[in-house]
Amino acid sequence: MSRNKIALIGAGNIGGELANLCVAKQLGDVVLFDIPPKESFAKGKALDLEQASALSGSDAKVIGSSNWEDCAGASVLIITAGIPRKPGQSRDDLVATNLPIIRNVADNAKKYCPDAFVIVISNPLDAMVYEFKRRTGWDKSKVVGMAGALDSARFQLFLAREAGVSVKDVRAPVLGGHGDDMVPLLRYTTINGMPVGQLIAKAKLDELVARTRKGGGEIVGLMGTSAYFAPAAGAIAMAESFLLNQKRLLACAAYLEGEYGYNDLYMGVPVVIGAGGIEKVIELELDAEEKAMLAKSAGSVQTIVDVVKKTEG
Ligand code: APR
Repeated sequence: MSRNKIALIGAGNIGGELANLCVAKQLGDVVLFDIPPKESFAKGKALDLEQASALSGSDAKVIGSSNWEDCAGASVLIITAGIPRKPGQSRDDLVATNLPIIRNVADNAKKYCPDAFVIVISNPLDAMVYEFKRRTGWDKSKVVGMAGALDSARFQLFLAREAGVSVKDVRAPVLGGHGDDMVPLLRYTTINGMPVGQLIAKAKLDELVARTRKGGGEIVGLMGTSAYFAPAAGAIAMAESFLLNQKRLLACAAYLEGEYGYNDLYMGVPVVIGAGGIEKVIELELDAEEKAMLAKSAGSVQTIVDVVKKTEG
């Protein structure tokens, strides 16, 4: 049996870490794809990773390429093509640059990787994954955006540190768009089944919610560019669930057709990922306050999607 092929579109910071995790977890052979001016860089990164695999004992192959033909037959496509944020920029500020890039990637993906499960990471996430699906016309089960897994991970870390418990025991879903009005769901947040409100005071929880909402910006402020370890880990959890049919329940940007009262919109909701891609969207019961927060977040996503829809291409 041949190994799965995983094509990583964009060989930058997140692309490199994605490749590293694919090799470490032996998820399949990897194509690290970038534009022709970056082909030699992608090849160098691939070679470095393969040399590391000789030490770690992984047999996964990694190649760098700017030829879409090398991506043909991929089971999974993870897209980070585009530019990341600089300090002071919002994710939405990236739309003018990243929109033509996602369209180019969508056209090539359609031609060369028609059977792939696609995970989009490029920002502004909810609009970029929307455009990828619109442009390819692919089924909603096979096009998903990575955001909730990352936002939840950030929230879980802050809560674990505050409560002085293992990160393994914290479960903290974050729904809505991947922007500053994302919706951390405190009512559904538990520490090994115990309501978080019994372990952390309300004022502190509010502080951690605010820090989670600005979690990406905090790192951009510190590093001068976007995070890459945690975003890559989020996408790999999703890819692994697909490839191994794990049926993990993760918050992801999924295409909504009536769920939570929204239509023709990508937004973060809990989904089940298995061999069929997005196999199910879970509809949680939300109270009035949570619904209002989700509506605000959906409004922000819709604004940027409307910009995308109005742009020719
Ligand atoms: N096809 C393939 N790769 C492309 C294309 C394209 N059409 N256009 C640009 N790229 C490549 C760039 O050459 C670069 O190597 O995408 C890569 C992006 O890498 P980085 O600049 O290091 O950005 P990164 O931190 O990986 O973030 C990528 O993910 O989280 C989002 O906001 C982030 O939109 C950004 C994206």
